[in-house]
Amino acid sequence: PAEDEARIEEIKRLLEAHNAVLVAHYYTDDAIQQLAEETGGCVADSLEMARFGARHPADTLVVAGVRFMGETAKILSPEKRVLMPTLEATCSLDVGCPADEFSAFCDAHPDRTVVVYANTSAAVKARADWVVTSSIAVDVIEHLKARGEKILWAPDKHLGGYIQKQTGADMLLWDGACIVHEEFKAKGVEDLKGLYPEAAVLVHPESPASVVELADVAGSTSQLIKAAKELPHDKLIVATDRGIFFKMQQAVPEKTLFEAPTAGNGATCKSCAHCPWMAMNALDNMAAALREGSGEIQVDAELRQAALKPLQRMLDFNC
Ligand code: 13P
Ligand code: SF4
Repeated sequence: PAEDEARIEEIKRLLEAHNAVLVAHYYTDDAIQQLAEETGGCVADSLEMARFGARHPADTLVVAGVRFMGETAKILSPEKRVLMPTLEATCSLDVGCPADEFSAFCDAHPDRTVVVYANTSAAVKARADWVVTSSIAVDVIEHLKARGEKILWAPDKHLGGYIQKQTGADMLLWDGACIVHEEFKAKGVEDLKGLYPEAAVLVHPESPASVVELADVAGSTSQLIKAAKELPHDKLIVATDRGIFFKMQQAVPEKTLFEAPTAGNGATCKSCAHCPWMAMNALDNMAAALREGSGEIQVDAELRQAALKPLQRMLDFNC
């Protein structure tokens, strides 16, 4: 639509005027991902977003994603201004792990190394020994297990359970879940696989174990796009937020992609997965953030120092 075109042009002008760069997650709207690409920004998984933002020389980072991604960017680059289209975009994993309750949980298990998923608040990160994203989690836990460490993991019980199974590590799990991935049901994926037996199944490990068990490949958003390219299959059933289809289809234009159904009762996609918080990122509020300086992420200096340590450990980890 013409108004979208006008907004896109405005955002391009504002990005340049503010020496700003757009860092977008794969789950944001197609128009935002395209804009990030066209303007020299990045479209990436949460680990790559953190790395890109930290390395980029821009004065302002515009982070299109959810709040923890903006906070991570600010913790890693306190000298940069970090803007988000909206500060309301949270994540059910973050909401389900309040810092005070989490801190009490850690206090009750002082013998365990605390590893938290990136999808947490700065205050929760500040209490952790390590931060990991889904693309690096198995490697980090493998490393800690080899050092004889017992783990306290938060907040995603499905991702935690998956890592536990992969590594055999001793892990105590917080009881959190992603409301988007938890909706995938094994029955729905099996029914679709019944219709297309030759299809490969790609699953984000925030999904329940019964769904991950059906996967040919489980991994982060970037790892799933890589797998889509590398697998020989012409048909792919994908269990993660539908936002991923924009880049995945670009990567494999010759392949047929199917959204794994979330209804669990049929092969057609009755209600496909889409994160309501990622969906809050739009061209209008992005233009407003750049124009008015709204949606600026602030992290208290002391909190920042404490959260930086486990985050930096993740960035420095070579797997
Ligand atoms: P990735 O690190 O795989 O991008 O995952 C982030 C996320 O929020 C998935 O729901
Ligand atoms: Fe959080 Fe799930 Fe949304 Fe990812 S998809 S941001 S884990 S609620």
